[in-house]
Amino acid sequence: MSRSEGNAEGPSVTLHMVSSLDGFIAKKDNSVSWLDSPGSVYQAGVSISEEEAAIFLKAIDCYVLGSRTYELALELGWPYGDTPVVVVTGREWPLARKTVEFYSGDLKKLVDEKLAPRYRNIWLVGGAMLCRRFLELALVDEIRLTIAPVLLGEGLRLFGGSATEERWNLKNVVAYKNGFVELSYSAHAE
Ligand SMILES: NC(=O)c1ccc[n+]([C@@H]2O[C@H](COP(=O)([O-])OP(=O)(O)OC[C@H]3O[C@@H](n4cnc5c(N)ncnc54)[C@H](OP(=O)(O)O)[C@@H]3O)[C@@H](O)[C@H]2O)c1
Repeated sequence: MSRSEGNAEGPSVTLHMVSSLDGFIAKKDNSVSWLDSPGSVYQAGVSISEEEAAIFLKAIDCYVLGSRTYELALELGWPYGDTPVVVVTGREWPLARKTVEFYSGDLKKLVDEKLAPRYRNIWLVGGAMLCRRFLELALVDEIRLTIAPVLLGEGLRLFGGSATEERWNLKNVVAYKNGFVELSYSAHAE
């Protein structure tokens, strides 16, 4: 299903990224300590238990990622559990995990023909290049952007500095006790 065919009943593609306050998703050296929870506490914020987080993650049917994000996940520690993962790449890769499959080619076909018949809750989780391509092709139904309370100054731009003006509809805002804020936007006005 593509964004233009948006349908509340059908499968949906959620783009999820964590950004710094100044719009970066990675540091030049790829270190990730900026994603750690800071010591400060925002009293009015919410916190979720490990059980709640596990229930939420269990509802995700499939992750889609670019090959650079895949390489880093292998290196830094696999964050996707046993959930199916599709890695978009033009290269040949040795199969490192049973839950991973590789895809090369048309991204609209990936969503419409490969993912939509099998999965409902599809999460696109990076990186900048792949997210930008998905947005350009209008394949994203929902954007969930988590803002980390930190300025990085430089690094990799969110969506690789996507250039097209486009309106999205704010659906939800959640502020967490650790100072992170999650913004959810829908492509569909509803
Ligand atoms: N903060 C966050 O939430 C977050 C989340 C994820 C990643 N990241 C960061 O983002 C960085 C990686 O992002 P990135 O933009 O450099 O790379 P990326 O999007 O993860 O991967 C790019 C690769 O994906 C493949 N690809 C992309 N579009 C394709 C298409 N249309 N057809 C075929 N293959 C395609 C290509 O692989 P081949 O070269 O193999 O052909 C391309 O080199 C890392 O630093 C990571 O830490 C941050």
